[in-house]
Amino acid sequence: MAARIIRKIVPVSRSGAAQYSSGVRKVTLIPGHGIGPEITVAVQKIFEAAKVPIEWDEVDVTAVRGPDGKMGIPQKAIDSVNANKIGLKGPLMTPVGKGYRSLNLALRKEFDLYANVRPCKSMEGIKTLYDNVDVVTIRENTEGEYSGIEHEIVDGVVQSIKLITEEASMRVAEFAFVFAKENKRKKVTAVHKANIMRMSDGLFLRCCRDVATKYPDIKFEERYLDTVCLNMVQDPAKFDVLVMPNLYGDIMSDLCSGLVGGLGLTPSGNIGKNGALFESVHGTAPAIAGKDLANPTALLLSGVMMLRHLNLHNEAQKIQQACFRVLREGRVLTPDLGGNGTCSGFTAEIIKYLDEPEH
Ligand code: NAI
Repeated sequence: MAARIIRKIVPVSRSGAAQYSSGVRKVTLIPGHGIGPEITVAVQKIFEAAKVPIEWDEVDVTAVRGPDGKMGIPQKAIDSVNANKIGLKGPLMTPVGKGYRSLNLALRKEFDLYANVRPCKSMEGIKTLYDNVDVVTIRENTEGEYSGIEHEIVDGVVQSIKLITEEASMRVAEFAFVFAKENKRKKVTAVHKANIMRMSDGLFLRCCRDVATKYPDIKFEERYLDTVCLNMVQDPAKFDVLVMPNLYGDIMSDLCSGLVGGLGLTPSGNIGKNGALFESVHGTAPAIAGKDLANPTALLLSGVMMLRHLNLHNEAQKIQQACFRVLREGRVLTPDLGGNGTCSGFTAEIIKYLDEPEH
């Protein structure tokens, strides 16, 4: 399904994605598995109603067997992301078993999507412990504990290598400060355990310190991971933008999602040098797949992040406002949010509010 209108040429965006003279942008769409297709249709309907000038290039990423005998991403999907350099992705099911590797990890590696960005902001109408959360986690996405270098030394003894490089640490630190500056944020906190992992986390921290000197207007602080966990659940208002190595980012970003209502509501973006992939962070929710019960908010707000990345700020704002209004009014919420509404009902309500200004 394509949402098209003709408009003047948009400026070349940071993603460097393919542009058309009409200004209509082609975006790779990966609906994914389980609830993926139904929440994707919800997003497509809302984008079309909001007259977003993009054309979807839909691809399937169900694993196929590669020449090395391992299951991986189909070439057509790789070609699509390489051509469009921007994509929106639903959840993927990675079968458990030998020969399968995580398709999500494979996508991040394939396109060198080195920074994972997850804004977690309290939303009116979503009851949580705090109503003043506004943090953004920025996670190094390509190495650290996820480098995949593991081996058995002798029977019963295995080793896993946490790989930290100056190059990857510098670029994610730089990304965090640029993000903070562009989004008028005040502080960047580097999260680490350099007291224990002196060399690896020590290097990551030194890179953050180096980059911080170039941004004197943004406050920089260093905090131990354990202290951040404690402080985050006691008083999340203490934090603004957080930057950290891969595993810490994985855990901390879920913790922050929990503070604003859970994974069903949290958007994310994976940003690389040559492209970006925006995705909901929840899984395929197989128990409710195909039942019209899934909450499309996380994928929709990931789409909103994508629109901002494409400099389509008006469309982004319009969709976000309508979505927040539906959440705040709480009449058609899906069961995960305590309501008895459906995915399609929730979607229709957002569409209804797109052109209806609030008083
Ligand atoms: P899950 O996120 O699919 O489900 C956890 C719980 O949250 C379930 O109760 C589910 O019904 C609910 N839930 C999740 N998203 C929802 C939504 N949008 N609306 C309403 N309820 C929602 O996690 P689980 O069960 O651990 O994983 C299931 C599958 O998803 C596995 O195959 C896993 O590999 C895959 N997965 C994929 C991810 C991705 O592609 N980014 C991330 C996490 C898991």
